[in-house]
Amino acid sequence: MTASLTILGATGSVGSQALDLVARNPGRWRVEAITAGSDVPALAAAAVACGARFAAVADPARGAAMKDALAGTGIESGAGPEALVEAAARDAEVVITAIVGAAGLAPTMAAVKRGAQIGIANKETLVCAGPVVTAAARAHGATLLPVDSEHNAIFQVFDHARPDRVEKIILTASGGPFRTRSRAEMRGVSVADACKHPVWSMGAKISIDSATLMNKGLELIEAAQLFPVPVERLAVIVHPQSVIHSMAEYVDGSVLAQLGTPDMRIPIAYAMAWPERIATPAARLNLAEIARLEFEAPDLERFPCLALAWAAMRAGGSAPCILNAANEIAVAAFIAGKVGFLDIDAVVAATLDHVPSGPVSTIEEVMAIDAAARAAAMAAVEKRAA
Ligand SMILES: NC(=O)c1ccc[n+]([C@@H]2O[C@H](COP(=O)([O-])OP(=O)(O)OC[C@H]3O[C@@H](n4cnc5c(N)ncnc54)[C@H](OP(=O)(O)O)[C@@H]3O)[C@@H](O)[C@H]2O)c1
Repeated sequence: MTASLTILGATGSVGSQALDLVARNPGRWRVEAITAGSDVPALAAAAVACGARFAAVADPARGAAMKDALAGTGIESGAGPEALVEAAARDAEVVITAIVGAAGLAPTMAAVKRGAQIGIANKETLVCAGPVVTAAARAHGATLLPVDSEHNAIFQVFDHARPDRVEKIILTASGGPFRTRSRAEMRGVSVADACKHPVWSMGAKISIDSATLMNKGLELIEAAQLFPVPVERLAVIVHPQSVIHSMAEYVDGSVLAQLGTPDMRIPIAYAMAWPERIATPAARLNLAEIARLEFEAPDLERFPCLALAWAAMRAGGSAPCILNAANEIAVAAFIAGKVGFLDIDAVVAATLDHVPSGPVSTIEEVMAIDAAARAAAMAAVEKRAA
């Protein structure tokens, strides 16, 4: 049976792996729409290769280039944020949201509102607007399937019929490239150093988030949105081999885990084919070769981003949205060479201090808080860059 599929953020690390699965499974999916931020050549090539009906680029200035690149192919094109929403709103049974950052919020909501089956990689959307997105998913009958490997692991071992039997959710963290470094040793690191993830090969933003451990903080908040478990029952353990992708501990003391090699095509395939399982080309796990699995507690002093995220999750309301917006600005400033690696947590902390948090119940409120937090974070960046 062929299912219709849309991939938001198709030119990125997750998006291109989703397209790889489409190419490996002829006849299984028909691609309705794909999107990118600004990379017109990559998007046009992907649209032709997968036979998409519609391709949209977020940057409105790239609209003419997009049209030219697809001239004569019969593929419709669009540009600008509204074209991304149109891509998500088109009739596809399955939508993979692999846009990076809060830019994914509006298109994700468009897919939610038509009750699609949504594979969510775009964790920032759940972090900044989790209660609004999950309430809309319930109201419109949309299914949210986590693509993040940790949440996908939990989804696979979670007793969805008896969530009260789950005593703890334990997210594993690789620890990132600076796991063993002191703060002083992290001071002068370059963007390339921060992107050298020890286990996973991913886009720049999530790689830097993994180096600060903010990624694990965002994942805690994401887990709180996806699974009906009180926040005090969420835990993080550093596991450098990243063989165990996460665990659920039950009231009887049993701990269920999902294991696998670090290949995102495993959770992406799970979300794309659910409730079926399909074959993937991922390498098989060879535990005898790996031989040792190590674990350690996360160090919140060397990695204050994780502590900030934990506090924002406990505070709830708009605090996670402020945290996320500030982090996006701080990471972009680090990539642009405006601030150093250790300024990232400082900018996030300053923004959380500066922007008051409170309850949020609509997307419009989320967007207003997001804008206010970005402005405050930019001011904090300028101060530190000066
Ligand atoms: N990579 C992983 O293994 C992994 C694992 C778990 C979760 N995730 C999550 O999945 C999401 C995507 O991560 P990634 O590593 O695949 O990122 P990535 O490689 O940087 O790709 C991001 C995608 O989003 C598009 N994009 C960028 N800015 C945009 C904007 N303002 N509006 C619309 N689209 C925009 C990019 O288009 P252009 O190519 O045109 O820039 C690209 O298609 C993130 O939320 C990340 O946290 C990723």
